[in-house]
Amino acid sequence: MKYHIVTYGCQMNVHESEKIAGILEKLGYTPCDKREEADIIVFNTCAIREGAEDRVLGNVGNLKRLKKQNKDLIIVVCGCMTQKEKTARVLMQKFPFVDIVIGTFNLSKLADYIEAVKKGRQLVLMEEGEIDELEPYKRTSGDNAWVNIMQGCNNFCTYCIVPYVRGREKSRKEENILNEIRGIIAENKYKKITLLGQNVNSYGKDLVPQVSFSKLLEDICALDGDFTLTFMTSHPKDLTSDVIDQIAKQDKIEKSIHLPAQSGNNRILKLMNRRYTREKYLAIIDEIRQKIPNCRITSDFIVGFPTETEEEFEDTCSLVKQVKFDSIFAFMYSKRDGTVASRMDGQISEEEKNRRVNILLKIEKELQKEKK
Ligand code: SAH
Ligand code: SF4
Ligand code: F3S
Repeated sequence: MKYHIVTYGCQMNVHESEKIAGILEKLGYTPCDKREEADIIVFNTCAIREGAEDRVLGNVGNLKRLKKQNKDLIIVVCGCMTQKEKTARVLMQKFPFVDIVIGTFNLSKLADYIEAVKKGRQLVLMEEGEIDELEPYKRTSGDNAWVNIMQGCNNFCTYCIVPYVRGREKSRKEENILNEIRGIIAENKYKKITLLGQNVNSYGKDLVPQVSFSKLLEDICALDGDFTLTFMTSHPKDLTSDVIDQIAKQDKIEKSIHLPAQSGNNRILKLMNRRYTREKYLAIIDEIRQKIPNCRITSDFIVGFPTETEEEFEDTCSLVKQVKFDSIFAFMYSKRDGTVASRMDGQISEEEKNRRVNILLKIEKELQKEKK
């Protein structure tokens, strides 16, 4: 019996697919590269932008052909897209050959669901629940080991779907994280450990007693072993000096930080509910550069947020030029159902967003040339 997993979206999803692989291997499945040869196909989906969702729908549609050839084939669609109830229902109606639609919170039920489907039932599940700590991972990312330190997000940036599909922030207990990392070190197969969370800087605020992210970094670095440590993603509003100090001080921590700015204009930042200003962002960059001279700094930007004017977009361009990032991702704003920004007046046309994103990418290209 063979499985094939298709993963969309961020590193969080890549890592979750490792959990899915772990669950499937426990059931006796082995991996295969071609979906034509699989007995079970899993689509682990992303909902961050419309384009991501469209790709999933297209590719799931294409599976109909395989299901015709092999009626015992089990098709699972899970991840962020299916955590949205409306999308899950639409998916089930549009693609009745899909066997299991399962949200981000219910992965640990996957094994039971597969058993149920073998008895002939089509299932949907997307309740909020506890994330199971005990499911094993089948690590598939070479010499990098992902370690999840928290789930969810409390920030509700007005454009973003993540808080709706991943729930509220929930930190894992520090001891569980340290134990997982001890295990990774003992396996002697991994050179790099990457800590994952939507906003790693708020790690531990919900724990009793509280643990700070800088303390977690310090405790991980104190573990015996030969590894480098890195993490993503940092939110500028929560990136504190003690974290920057740890990156500077610890030899094991990579001198690299991904710090999404999203916009260089204060009115837009406020509308996005990012809770920092351009000036605050630049002050953090200064502090990083001063304490960690060769630190690699990367960022994300959204262009064409509702009501963004040409001048406001130019503030984003000037921020990119001023900071001289090592690399940036630039996204066209995508309207997500249920978010505050989707209900704002002044949505910008696709054509205009496209024009702006190309300008920003050109600036990025020029910066890259200068750096060489
Ligand atoms: N938690 C991370 C972001 C995760 S999403 C953080 O806060 O930095 C990754 C990136 O996708 C974001 O940084 C943002 O630039 C982009 N993004 C999120 N929602 C978007 C939307 N509706 N339209 C366009 N880009 C979006
Ligand atoms: Fe989305 Fe903002 Fe949370 Fe990042 S911090 S996941 S952009 S709501
Ligand atoms: Fe990641 Fe996409 Fe979900 S970016 S958290 S997989 S919506």
